[in-house]
Amino acid sequence: MPTSYQPAPLKQIAPHGGVLVNRVLEGAAREDAIKKAAKLAKVTVNEWEMSDIEIIGVGALSPLTGFMTPDEFDSVVDEMKLPNGLPWTLPVTVSVAEAQAGSIKEGDEVGLYSPDGQFLAIQKVVAKYKHNKAKEALKVYGTDELNHPGVAALYKKGEYLLGGPIEVVNLPPHNDFLPYRLTPAQTREEFKKRNWRRIVAFQTRNPIHRAHEYMTKVAMEITDGLLLHPLMGVTKDDDVSAELRMETYEAIVGAYYPKDRVIIAVNPSSMRYAGPREAVFHAILRKNYGCTHFIVGRDHAGVGNYYGSFDAHYIFDYFDPAEIGITPLFFDYTFFCKKSGGMASVKTSAGTKEDHITLSGTKVREMLRAGEMPPPEFTRPEVAKILIRGMKTTDEAANI
Ligand code: ADX
Ligand code: MG
Repeated sequence: MPTSYQPAPLKQIAPHGGVLVNRVLEGAAREDAIKKAAKLAKVTVNEWEMSDIEIIGVGALSPLTGFMTPDEFDSVVDEMKLPNGLPWTLPVTVSVAEAQAGSIKEGDEVGLYSPDGQFLAIQKVVAKYKHNKAKEALKVYGTDELNHPGVAALYKKGEYLLGGPIEVVNLPPHNDFLPYRLTPAQTREEFKKRNWRRIVAFQTRNPIHRAHEYMTKVAMEITDGLLLHPLMGVTKDDDVSAELRMETYEAIVGAYYPKDRVIIAVNPSSMRYAGPREAVFHAILRKNYGCTHFIVGRDHAGVGNYYGSFDAHYIFDYFDPAEIGITPLFFDYTFFCKKSGGMASVKTSAGTKEDHITLSGTKVREMLRAGEMPPPEFTRPEVAKILIRGMKTTDEAANI
């Protein structure tokens, strides 16, 4: 045996199912698909489905190559697995309205178009089936209340689902955050370039307050770098806009993080607000982007009071960790603790509730709207300034 040791050659985490999917056509195959599409039935997808086309296309949902068939849908909804046994917690489906469904037959190919008429992809319709929305709502979201934004989105879909693989001709067009739009192949390449072996991903749909900053930094202590991976697809109307959030991410990373240990990249998915099931989905998605660790805090992907604060931790116990592959890092409620003199969590705070600087979402919104800075123990002033400005110019940041 040697008496001194070198790092072993870099071996990246395998994508879910082993192979990074790429469903984006190029060159002659793409030209052929464009010609063929002229003769195919046109299905207009909604924005949520459009973001799914993007994440399927670039392999963020590996091993999925398209939208789910009925056996996949049932297996995922009932068992939280794909039919081949791989963990999978959320249905990924594309719908058509009843009026159009009659004219589409199993075995057909159809063209999938964006809400504003852009040609996106060709789908081979392996199965056409009635969408059991009530079952999906109750099993996946744990409620069928239309107040739940994921359930509301589900009930807005067409009545029939089209299952089958897609070939993407045009990824959904974007004109924002272009330098941050990295595909899983690109983040993997970037990690390789930096020789990062252990990479923690942070999912967020909010500005980064001190609690989030703390969790990411604790995780950075045991990893080589952070993928700050904000979700930028469809979110609730009252969530802070993507533009404003991106400004806050750039500001906080610029001021408070070592820049060479953070990569900011856009997660183009839409938010389902499916709580625990979405936490597993979010973790697997980050595995496909090449991350080895994933932060799951309090009420991950939650909304209102639909989920227990730590259900998104417990759900991981229902899976074999080796099959999930990426390591979840579970965090309890985090805050600044006056007694401890720093950031802490329920697990590490020396003080009691009275020592903890916590603010309700409502309170923070009130303060920002009044142009008042929240305490620096809660939000970095650089971030607060951006949010205050955003709230002045628009009716923005309703849900900080
Ligand atoms: S979401 O995807 O979970 O909806 P959000 O931006 O609200 O995004 O939270 C990002 C991550 O931070 C999630 O893992 C969430 O559980 C965690 N989190 C947010 N605030 C806290 C907090 N005060 N204590 C512990 N975890 C938190
Ligand atoms: Mg949250």
